[in-house]
Amino acid sequence: MRKDFRTIGIVFPVTALVVSVLLLLVTSPVYGKGGSGIFLGVPGVRGGVAATSEPIAAQIGGDILRRGGNAVDAACAIAFALNVLEPQSSGIGGGGFMMIHINRWRKTIVVDSRERAPADASPDMFLDTEDVPFAFGIRSTSGIGVGVPGMVRGIAEALDNWGTISFAEALQPAIKLAEEGFRVSSRLESSIIAGIDGGRLSNELGNSAYDEARSVFAPGGVPFVQNELLIQPDLAETFKMLADEGPDAFYTGDIAEAIVKTQLNTRTVDEPADMDRLVGRMTLDDLEQYEVAIRKPVKGYYRGFRIVSMPPPSSGGLTVIQILKLTERFPIGDASQGFGFGSTRTLNVMMEAMRLAFADRAVWMGDDDFVDVPSAGLLDDDYIAMRSALIDPDSRQVEVFADDPRPFDVASANPKVKLALKKLADEEGLNTTHFTVVDRHGNIVTYTNTIESAWGTGLMVPGYGFLLNNELTDFNRVPAADPDPDNFNPGANDAAPFKRPRSSMSPTFVFRGRKPVAAYGSPGGSTIINSVVNVTMNLIDHKRNVQEAVDAPRISQTSANGSPAWEAGFDQAVIDELKESPFGHNLSDLRLNIIGSVQAVVIGPLGRFQFGAADRRRIGGIVSVRRCEIRRH
Ligand code: GLY
Repeated sequence: MRKDFRTIGIVFPVTALVVSVLLLLVTSPVYGKGGSGIFLGVPGVRGGVAATSEPIAAQIGGDILRRGGNAVDAACAIAFALNVLEPQSSGIGGGGFMMIHINRWRKTIVVDSRERAPADASPDMFLDTEDVPFAFGIRSTSGIGVGVPGMVRGIAEALDNWGTISFAEALQPAIKLAEEGFRVSSRLESSIIAGIDGGRLSNELGNSAYDEARSVFAPGGVPFVQNELLIQPDLAETFKMLADEGPDAFYTGDIAEAIVKTQLNTRTVDEPADMDRLVGRMTLDDLEQYEVAIRKPVKGYYRGFRIVSMPPPSSGGLTVIQILKLTERFPIGDASQGFGFGSTRTLNVMMEAMRLAFADRAVWMGDDDFVDVPSAGLLDDDYIAMRSALIDPDSRQVEVFADDPRPFDVASANPKVKLALKKLADEEGLNTTHFTVVDRHGNIVTYTNTIESAWGTGLMVPGYGFLLNNELTDFNRVPAADPDPDNFNPGANDAAPFKRPRSSMSPTFVFRGRKPVAAYGSPGGSTIINSVVNVTMNLIDHKRNVQEAVDAPRISQTSANGSPAWEAGFDQAVIDELKESPFGHNLSDLRLNIIGSVQAVVIGPLGRFQFGAADRRRIGGIVSVRRCEIRRH
C-alpha cells in the first residue's frame, strides 16, 4: 500500500509537470519577444507534416515522409499527384515556384520552374491586326497564351540537388492514382461543370482540339460527379514514359512534338489574319532549351520576424513584404487603439497599403533577368516611410499612384525620374495550388504550382492527358514601356523572348532569428499576395494559432484604385462604415468571395513540434507523421 502511494506521489507530480510543459509548448507563443510570436494550434508532431489542398495528396506526402524521404521528396510526389487530383489547377503542362529551406545548412533556395516565353515572343503578341488587345477569354484559350512548361525540369532539378528519391520514384504514386483512379471530389465536380458550362472545357466553336479535355472529364458531354471513379490512362502513360526515360522525354521527342502541335490551335475569331496572330509561337527548340532558375529569395523584416519570399519574376515576395512594412508603424492587433482584428482602422490600413504596393508592382516588377527591378529601393526603409506616410488610418486616399523607388535602390544607377503612369488591367487567373511540407530534419518546402486559369488554355495534349497552361497572359496585354520622362514606364512585364511572365505566387517563410517558424502560400492570381499578408498579420499581429490564422476572413485589393474583395465573416457594420465617407472603399456587396487557399506549417519551440493547417476554402488535407512511424532504410 505504502509503495503504491509513494509511486503515485512521484508519478503524479512528474506527469503533471510533463503535461504542463507540453501544454505550455503547445499554447504559448514561440519566441514571443516584445509581445509578438507565432502561436501554435493543434498538437504537433516531430516526424513531418504535409499540408495540401487535397487529402489524398497529403497522404502521398505523408507516406514518403514515413518511408524516410525528406520534404523535397514528398513535395515532388505531391506535385505530380495534384496533376491527377486537381488537373484544373496545376500539372506538368505548367510551372511554379518551389522554396526549399535546408535546415542543416540554414539555407533557403528558390527553384523557379515558371513558364518561359518562346524565342519568337514579342511585346505586341496579344494585339490584333488593329493593335487592339484580344479579349482575355480569347488569348487565354488560344495557343498564343501557352508558355514553355517548367514543372518537369523543376522537379528533376529539386530532386537531383536536394532530394533522396529518384525522379521515377516521385512519379509512382501519381501513376497509380491516374491508372487506378480516385473518387472525384466536390471541388473537381464543380470545376468540371463550370468548365463545360461556357468555360474551358466547352467547345461551341467546333475546333476538335478543345474536345480532348472534355472527353476525359465529361465524356459524351456528361461531367464526372462527386464520388465517381475517374481514371486518366493517357496521363498515367505519360508519367510512365517520364519515369522510364527521365525528364528530357518531356522536352524532346514525341511529347515535345505533340505540345508544339497542340499550341497551334486557337479559339476561332472572325478575321483569319487575327486568327494567325493567336497561334502559339513555341518551337521544339524552345522546349529543349527550357531552363530552371535557382534563385535567392527576397527578405524583409516585419515586427522582428524575417519574411523570406519569392523574388522576381514573381512580384509576390516584394509586394507581400512592402504591404507588411507599410502597415508596420500602426499598432495592428491592439484593439484598445482601434486596431483589433477586422476593425475599421485595421481593414482600412490594410487596403491602403495594398493599394500603394500594387501601384508599385504594376510599374516596377517583372522578370529581372530582363529588366532592372529596383528590389532594394522598393523595400528601403526611407522609401517605405515616405509611402506609408500617405496612409491615414481614418480615411482613404482618393487616388493612389506608383512612386519611383530607384533613388532608394543602391543597386540602381538611374537618375530620379518622376512618373505619370498608365493603368493596366489585372487579369490573372484565380486557380493554381499551394502546399507545404516539413520533414523530421526540419527541412521545409513551400510550393505554388499552376497552369494559370482553371483548366489552363483548355487545350489538352492529345493522347498524353495533360493540359497546357495560359501563363503568358500574365504578361502585359498591351506593351507598357515608355521612355518619355513625363509618361515613363520601364515595361517591366512586357513580353519578350525567353522572358518569364510576372507572377504573384508567394511561397513564404517566416523566420525568428535563424529559425524558420512558419511557411505557407496560396493560389488565387494576384490575390495570392493578399492571402499571404492576411495570414501573416493573423499570426504575428492578431496572435492567432495557425489554423485560426488560415480560417479567418480575408480582405484583398489588387490594384491602386480598383474595388477590394472581402470574405464573409467580417462585421457588416465595419464594411458599411468603410464604404462611407471619409473612407469610400468600393467594397462589393457580394459576400460569396473566396480569397485564396493557404496551406501552412508552423514549427514550435526549439524546432521540435510541427503543426499544419489546411484551408477549408478548398478541401484541405493535413498528414502529420510521428517520429516513431518513420521506417528507416
Ligand atoms: N498565374 C498566376 C500567377 O503566376 O500569379
